[in-house]
Amino acid sequence: MADDVSRHGMWSSRLLFVLAATGSAVGLGNIWKFPYITGENGGGAFVLVYLICIAAIGIPVMMAEVLLGRAGRQSPINTLRTLVKDTGASSFWTVIGWMGVLAGFLILSYYAVIAGWAVSYIFRLAGGAFAGADGAVSTAIFGDFMASPWEVLLWHTVFMIATIFIVARGVVRGLQVAVRWLMPILLVLLLGLVGYAAIYGDFARALEFLFTFDASKLSWSGTLTAMGHAFFTLSLGMGAIMAYGAYLQSNTSISSTVITIGTLDTAVALAAGLAIFPIVFAVEGLVPGEGVGLMFQTLPIAFGNLPGGSILGALFFILVSFAAITSAISLTEPALTYLVEQYNAKRWRVAISLGVFCWLLGIGTVLSFNTWSDAKLFGLTFFEVVDYLSYKVMLPLGGLLIAVFVGWVLARRTVVSQLGYGDGKKWSLWETGIAFVAPAGIVIVFVYTIVQSFG
Ligand code: PFF
Repeated sequence: MADDVSRHGMWSSRLLFVLAATGSAVGLGNIWKFPYITGENGGGAFVLVYLICIAAIGIPVMMAEVLLGRAGRQSPINTLRTLVKDTGASSFWTVIGWMGVLAGFLILSYYAVIAGWAVSYIFRLAGGAFAGADGAVSTAIFGDFMASPWEVLLWHTVFMIATIFIVARGVVRGLQVAVRWLMPILLVLLLGLVGYAAIYGDFARALEFLFTFDASKLSWSGTLTAMGHAFFTLSLGMGAIMAYGAYLQSNTSISSTVITIGTLDTAVALAAGLAIFPIVFAVEGLVPGEGVGLMFQTLPIAFGNLPGGSILGALFFILVSFAAITSAISLTEPALTYLVEQYNAKRWRVAISLGVFCWLLGIGTVLSFNTWSDAKLFGLTFFEVVDYLSYKVMLPLGGLLIAVFVGWVLARRTVVSQLGYGDGKKWSLWETGIAFVAPAGIVIVFVYTIVQSFG
């Protein structure tokens, strides 16, 4: 079995792991993506499916990833190699690690572009571009920005450089500082925005939209989106949390830690929804199904009409950018640690090479919103293809393989020694989740979506 420390470093406490994993989980997925896909998929029913997926699939899979990481204490690929050998299983299972590396690349390539939008909004707000803005103004500002590929590319580059800088410094040194301070401030500011939305927006309609269950509004493809998003928002299915689990102290309880992370992540997503939708319903010209620009078109209106809003708005986008960076970092960790282990390479060298590669791939996303907006594959732009492949296909598939591997293949003694229990209520709940509910849930959603799209 592996050593009890990782060569890449260790979290100095349970709290740091919680912060880092929450930092990975909370990001653009919560504040940018959750609201707009909820808007596109009709609201309440989508939210309910998403919450069920978090609880029934996300939590068990996250526990599985943490326990795999801690049991192997290496990069996801080598962790799987070690555990496969230890269990006497087929080396097929290392595909989980490889697919994760690929998914990480794909996601980071567009994640850095959208995060670049957020960085640019820091300056737009600070410069007062939204003072007294209404829906038409904010929509026009966003539209003009999207139509300027060079400008988008500039901010994409800035974000990528910042990410690689932190990654190169090492997870512990680079990350601890960021997450310890910024996550709590982000939460406070987000709650402040909910307060604003409650006073000045149409809060009642937003509540109704988010929490009224209307099954007729949800298709199987919407269900797949909700499930994919549960993986995306918790950073699951691609080894990021597995990589972080490798640096976790042996005596930390996995179940309670994972539940804390899942709860924090969900709270931030719901708060973002409650900050954005009241504004959507109160402002003329905005609709919930606005798409990728939703966050960028709604929140600046709130800031633009608040006393001191320019400063507050700039601060908000600073925090969103930091939330994005603490997620982006974790996207590189599986590939980075593997290359460091395999070639004994210097961390910073690997970090820069990965960064350049993802940056190049990201140019496709930059152009998807302007020059290449008409270039489509199966009706999807470059950005949409990368997004679809990663979060609707690779993450759920990765999650399925992880659940089956841990639930059915991995030696029981490894699982028991990591979880710290091997019978009783907690064990039955865990076993039901990882061996039955999670795999069956994922398969059912996949199968129905395929049948529906070809049927
Ligand atoms: N969880 C991040 C978010 O919600 O923004 C995105 C993400 C990070 C996905 C890391 C996957 C991952 F491995």
